[in-house]
Amino acid sequence: MNTVMTLPEKVPYHLAVIMDGNGRWARSRGLPRLAGHRAGVENLRRILRACTEFGIKILTIYAFSTENWGRPEAEVRGLMNILETVIDRELKQLHANGVQLRHIGELDGLSEMLQGKVSKAVDLTRNNDQLILNVAFNYGGRQDLLQAFRRIVDDGIPSDQIDERLIDYYLYTAGQPDPDLVVRTGGEMRLSNFLLWQASYAEYYSTPTYWPDFDREELLKAIAQFGQRERRFGLVLQS
Ligand code: FPP
Repeated sequence: MNTVMTLPEKVPYHLAVIMDGNGRWARSRGLPRLAGHRAGVENLRRILRACTEFGIKILTIYAFSTENWGRPEAEVRGLMNILETVIDRELKQLHANGVQLRHIGELDGLSEMLQGKVSKAVDLTRNNDQLILNVAFNYGGRQDLLQAFRRIVDDGIPSDQIDERLIDYYLYTAGQPDPDLVVRTGGEMRLSNFLLWQASYAEYYSTPTYWPDFDREELLKAIAQFGQRERRFGLVLQS
């Protein structure tokens, strides 16, 4: 296969990905849905490598939404097992590669064992600086805002001191710049409760390609389109 050798000039600093289409990828091969999720993990490895190669500094992945609890029990259990296996098998390598693992979302609801593993992985990698990998697991954009507002009230912050910067500070992504580009695989054209606040000015890219097939070349296409967009942030473009 041909690989594009020239790297894009303009690369998103923070890339966020809705990894959709695992189920359809599996069905099109006569495989169970979980086989699609496992193929999705394999692809994640490839995309992580590509992100490092292209100089992307933050990658946020939507791995399990607050709505995903409504999926069949076996699939929910399978996704929990996948997270556990990823931590067990990949943590050492991720750490060696300088990846800082962060969890965004609620740990409540996960088994105590899984909560412990996630916390330990986050702790181990907290000083790494090659790439931040935010794993959105048991994450919802509305839940993110809700927990922020609750903590602001609990901290007794007066209303005249609440501004956008303060809300940023209370979100799961505190301290990180907003995503520049949101990529959605699997063809849908919606945000599905992902990074509602943070993605306000992100560029959006949707491709019909299923997540397990979204490889380095596909990522390059998304980045190339991002490079051609004019980001005006609500302003008039200066010529
Ligand atoms: C959407 O595809 C995908 C998910 C709900 C889960 C994505 C999870 C992974 C790729 C693996 C998890 C990774 C980590 C690090 C835990 P879908 O099932 O909705 O696909 P469909 O729309 O074709 O049915």
